[in-house]
Amino acid sequence: MTTAPTARHFLRDDDVTAAEQREILELALAFRQDRHLEQPFAGPQAVAIIFDKPSTRTRVSFSAGVAELGGYPLVIDSATSQLGRGEPVADTARVLESMVSAIVWRTFGQELIEEMAAHSSKPVVNALTDSFHPCQILADLAAVADARGGVDALAGLTLTYVGDGANNMAHSYLLGGALAGMHVRVGAPADYMPDERIVLDAKKIAAEQGGSITVTTEMDDAVAGADIIATDTWVSMGDEDQYEARKDVFGRYQVNARTLELAAPGAQVLHCLPAYRGKEITADVIDGPQSIVWLEAEYRLHAQKALLAWLARR
Ligand code: CP
Ligand code: NVA
Repeated sequence: MTTAPTARHFLRDDDVTAAEQREILELALAFRQDRHLEQPFAGPQAVAIIFDKPSTRTRVSFSAGVAELGGYPLVIDSATSQLGRGEPVADTARVLESMVSAIVWRTFGQELIEEMAAHSSKPVVNALTDSFHPCQILADLAAVADARGGVDALAGLTLTYVGDGANNMAHSYLLGGALAGMHVRVGAPADYMPDERIVLDAKKIAAEQGGSITVTTEMDDAVAGADIIATDTWVSMGDEDQYEARKDVFGRYQVNARTLELAAPGAQVLHCLPAYRGKEITADVIDGPQSIVWLEAEYRLHAQKALLAWLARR
């Protein structure tokens, strides 16, 4: 018998509406002001945080976040669990839902986390898949909002992501940025373009929210006049064997001093980290005055607490 799924899940950025995204972002900014604003996991209730891939920020921010929400963070490396030995995802979901209040999972295919959610009556949160990194985009948007005086500042901004247009970050910027009413541009090599279905979804959302979506191979067109410049590693987890093939193709999408000259005056720079200085971004930019990457990283904590607290109310 399959458990009836009753919970709200957060598997991709558009699993929330624009209004709901706004509520979560407002709450994220409030959590930065008061770390113990809400304690939905008081008891403590446990939250499972499962990793099939390496992590520093996601592991620490979810662990500290669940603790600050009054709960117990149960961090599981899949390599040392039965999930990692091939136990079905559905069976794992049925067991976890009887013991924990939410399931956070970093894994490979999006279909895996969809299967977990389909069998869980507790909220399932995507902590990065090959296709999306929606918690990161919540943090990015919250950091930009905070740096610019509030969530109202987001709509109408131009956010440009350059680099691997086919990766999780590109897809999440498209959907999450569109929900926030932004003009989202992706600049990427022709062979590393975003999934067309996600671009179409993002265009539909952008049309509803007053933003727009632009996908181009032209680096200069992508960054010209942009308010926010974002990039990510050229070689995502799981793509390591492609480094040699990628490094030359991606060279002209590097975020450097010239990029900032083309962008809007005072443009801010995002990078989800880990960063590779001298490759996708230069040291002078990531460590320079226009970088907000450390605020962005800090917001992983506040934004995920906001998301978990918001999901716990559903
Ligand atoms: N940005 C991010 O998700 O970092 P980690 O891989 O360290 O969790
Ligand atoms: N695109 C990167 C993000 C790391 C946080 C990866 O998937 O490895």
